[in-house]
Amino acid sequence: MRRAKISIIGGGNVGASCALWAAEKELGDIVVLDIPKAEDLVKGKMLDLAQCGPVELFDANIIGTADYADTAGSDVVIVTAGIPRKPGMSRDDLIATNVKIVKSVAEQVASHSPDAVMIIVSNPLDAMVFTAWRASGFPTNRIVGQAGCLDVARFKTFIAMETGFSVEDINALLLGGHGDTMVPLARYTNISGVPISKFISDDRMNEIIERTKKGGGEIVKLMGTSAYYAPASGSVSMAEAIIKDKKRILPCAAYCDGEYGINGYFVGVPAVLGSGGVEQIIEVDLNDDEKSLMDNSVEAVKELVEIVKQTFPELAEAAV
Ligand code: LAC
Repeated sequence: MRRAKISIIGGGNVGASCALWAAEKELGDIVVLDIPKAEDLVKGKMLDLAQCGPVELFDANIIGTADYADTAGSDVVIVTAGIPRKPGMSRDDLIATNVKIVKSVAEQVASHSPDAVMIIVSNPLDAMVFTAWRASGFPTNRIVGQAGCLDVARFKTFIAMETGFSVEDINALLLGGHGDTMVPLARYTNISGVPISKFISDDRMNEIIERTKKGGGEIVKLMGTSAYYAPASGSVSMAEAIIKDKKRILPCAAYCDGEYGINGYFVGVPAVLGSGGVEQIIEVDLNDDEKSLMDNSVEAVKELVEIVKQTFPELAEAAV
């Protein structure tokens, strides 16, 4: 059987951590690409990672590069390129810089790996997924954004900290954009099937929801830059579902064509991930309160996409 090929664009903290998780899971051969100025650094980092193989027992070709030709024919491409947040910045403050970077990356990916599934991680996430879609001309099932896997992981971590129960038994659902308007859904959260209300009071749950919504900012404030282990772990869980055709239901920024009343935007929804990329979107019933939170989050996504369209009017129209 041919090994899968995973390329990671951007060899910074998130990109390098993606390579680490992907190697550890032995998902396939790994190429991490960075800009020419960082070529030696990314080559060195990946040589270092390759040398873990005999200890951690994974077989994979792992290289760093600044040449897109090395990424050719990838099955999955994870796009982490772009500048990260600094303290005091929101994800949205990154848009002017990152829209240009992600547009050019998506064009290169489309020309070198025309059959790949592209997982976008760069921020502001929902607008960057839209940018990559329009710039690549890929069908909507092969463009997806990583945000929900991270956000729901934060939600589950806080629930585990609160209750003392295993993270393995916590099931949760989270919808919406990757910003402070995201919508963690307590009503769809349980521990081994037992509703969360059995363990955590409504007031306390609301505090946990607020902490989740601001979970990225909490880390930026502590570290002076944005998180990377968990964003990378979320991204690689999506890559794994695609490469192994697992049909996992994961919260992803997926293209909505009428689902949840959303037309033509990528927004966080439960999506089935398999070898076809986003194979299906699962719609859950929302009560009036949940629906209004979701609508509010969709509005925030639309505002960001509007900025993308103004920056690059050619992205306002579909590429194909
Ligand atoms: C975060 C960044 C990566 O949520 O968006 O930590």
